[in-house]
Amino acid sequence: MCGIVGFTGEHEAAPILLESLEKLEYRGYDSAGMAVRNGDKLAEVVKATGKLRNLAEKTDGGHALAGCCGIGHTRWATHGEPTQENAHPHVSGNAKKSASGPVESNVVGVHNGIIENYEELRDKLLKNGYQFYSQTDTEVVIKLVDYYYKKYKIGPIDAINRMMVRTHGSYALELMFKDYPGEIYVARKDSPMIIGIADGESYIASDVPAILKYTRSVYYIGNLQAARILPGEVHFFDLNGDEIEIAPTEITWDAKSAEKGGFEHFMIKEIHEQPQAVRDTLGSLIKEGRIDLSEVISEEELEKIKSVTIVACGSSWHVGMQAQYVIEDMAGVPVRVELASEYRYRKLLPDPESLVVLISQSGETADTLAALREAKSKGLKTLAVVNVLGSSIAREADRVIYTKAGPEIAVATTKAYSAQLICMHALALELARVKGALSSEEYSKLVSELQTIPEKIERILEEKNRVQWFAAKYSNAHDMFFIGRGLDYAICLEGSLKMKEISYIHSEAYAAGELKHGTISLVENGILVVGILTQKELIEKTLSNMTECKARGAYLMSLTADGNYSIEDSSDFTVYIPKTDPHFMGCLAIVPLQLLAYYLSVSKGLDVDKPRNLAKSVTVE
Ligand code: F6R
Repeated sequence: MCGIVGFTGEHEAAPILLESLEKLEYRGYDSAGMAVRNGDKLAEVVKATGKLRNLAEKTDGGHALAGCCGIGHTRWATHGEPTQENAHPHVSGNAKKSASGPVESNVVGVHNGIIENYEELRDKLLKNGYQFYSQTDTEVVIKLVDYYYKKYKIGPIDAINRMMVRTHGSYALELMFKDYPGEIYVARKDSPMIIGIADGESYIASDVPAILKYTRSVYYIGNLQAARILPGEVHFFDLNGDEIEIAPTEITWDAKSAEKGGFEHFMIKEIHEQPQAVRDTLGSLIKEGRIDLSEVISEEELEKIKSVTIVACGSSWHVGMQAQYVIEDMAGVPVRVELASEYRYRKLLPDPESLVVLISQSGETADTLAALREAKSKGLKTLAVVNVLGSSIAREADRVIYTKAGPEIAVATTKAYSAQLICMHALALELARVKGALSSEEYSKLVSELQTIPEKIERILEEKNRVQWFAAKYSNAHDMFFIGRGLDYAICLEGSLKMKEISYIHSEAYAAGELKHGTISLVENGILVVGILTQKELIEKTLSNMTECKARGAYLMSLTADGNYSIEDSSDFTVYIPKTDPHFMGCLAIVPLQLLAYYLSVSKGLDVDKPRNLAKSVTVE
C-alpha cells in the first residue's frame, strides 16, 4: 500500500525523504513523489512513475530540491492509473497536467487510504470553480481542505477538521500550507501514521521502519485527530480544534532489524529470524514454566469462554485454521475460523460467551479492523494477536497479545506467521489448563515441548540446502498441489500461498480427501504434489491420495517427521523435520515450505521481497 513520509528540520529534506521512502518500498507502490519548501518560497513538486530510483535520478538523490521542509509519497494505485498525473503530491490550485514544479497552491499534500464519497465532493468543488487534473480522490480531499480554508478564512487545523467531518473513508493525510512555511499538518482516520521528534527535527511516516534510523520515540496520532508539526515540535488537536496531549511510545525494534544484514533478500533473512521471533514471543508468554496471560485475560474470563471465533485474512487466517484444530483438540472448546472480509458483511449471530480473536501482523488490515469493530458493536469480547505496537487493531481490541517478531519487511510473511502460531498455541494451552482438559503433567510437558521449537527450527534451517537443490530442479513447475488432512491441511494452506505469491506458480491447497471429488482431473504428467504428513494417524490416508496422483503422472514430495522413513517407498522426494508434539507440528513444517517457495522464486529471478500486485499491509478493502 502507499507510503507517507515527511520531514521538517535543519537538514535538506529531500535526501531524508528519499531514504525514508526507500524503507517503505516493501509496502508496494507504482509511482512516487515529493514536495519540498525552501523557507517561504513555493513548494516544488517532483513525481516519477515506477521505482523510487526514478525519483532519485530526477532529483539528483534529492540534492536538486532545496529546502528543509517536505513531504513524500509512494503510491499504490487505487483511483486512477499509475501515471505521473495521479502520483502524489497533489495540489489545491487549478494546475495543469501533473502539477509538477513550483506550485502556486495554498495546499500541497499526500494521502494514504480511500475517500469513499470523493465523487460527490468533486461535484461540489467543481461547482465552486475548482478544476481537476488527476483521477484521484486525494486531489479532491486536498481541494476540499483549501475550500474550507479560504471560505471561512480559518487556520489549517480548523480547515482540516471541517474536511474530516465531511469525508467518509480512511486517510493518513499530510499537508503543507503556503502561508505556513516550515510546518507540516497531518490528519488521520483508519490509516496508520506516526510522528517522531529528535534533535530539534521532526519526522512523519506511515510505518515505523521509515524513521527508525532517526528516533525510536514516536507519537501515534489517533483517529480523527490532527497535528501541527514544526521542527522539533508537535501539537495534537481533536475534532473540535482543542489541543490534546499524546504521550510518546518507545519502539523496541532495533534499526538493524529493518536492514538486510548480509542476506540477499529480506524474506530469507526473516526465515532465519524465526527461531529468535519464536523465542522472544515465548519469552513474553511463559513465566516460570507456565503460560502467563494474566495481563491479557484473567482465568475467570477464560473459564467462561464457551467458544472461540478466529477472524483474519491471508496467512493470519491460516494461523487461525491451525489454531482451530489445536484448540478444539487440546481444550475441547469449539472454534470457528472466519475470513475477515466475509465476517464483516455476514449477519452475525453473536454468542456472548464467545471470544473473538483477531489475528494480524500489521494491525492495520482493513477487513480485520472492520471485523473487530463489527464484533465489538455486537458486544463481543475481542482479543487481538498483533505484531505492530500502536496499530489500529492493537488499540481498538479489548485485549492484545503482541507477537515479538520485530519489523517484517518482505511482503510474504514468515516470522510473524510463526510468532502468531506460538501465541495461538499459548492460548490453546491456557484454555485447556483452565478448562481442566489437560492434567498438570500433560500441561507442563507441552509447555516444555513448545520451548524446544526455536532450536528445532534452527535444525531445519541447517538442512536448507536439500530444499534449495530440489527447488532448482523444479524451477520450471507450472502447477502444484499441497495436500494433507486435519492439521496438515491447514499447513498446506500456508505452504501453497507462500508458493503462489512469490514464485507465481499456480498452486492449490487441498484437503487430501477432497481431491477425488473433482480436482484430481487436473492431475497430469509433471504436476508436483506436496503431501504434508505430520499427523501420524492420518499419514496412511494422505499417502494413498498421493499415490493416486502418482498413478496419473504426478511427482511426489513428502514432508514428514524424522522416523517416518517408510514414506520414501511411495514418495519421490522426502523432507524430514524434527519430531515434536503433533499439535505443534505446524511450527516446524512451514519452514521447509517457506524455503521451497523462496528458492523457487530466486531461481526464477523474481522480486522475492516485493511480489507483483501485492502490498505488505492491505489497508483498503
Ligand atoms: C501472505 C501475507 C498476507 C497477510 C494478510 C493479512 O504472505 O502476508 O496474506 O497475512 O494480508 O495481513 P495482516 O496479518 O497484516 O493482517
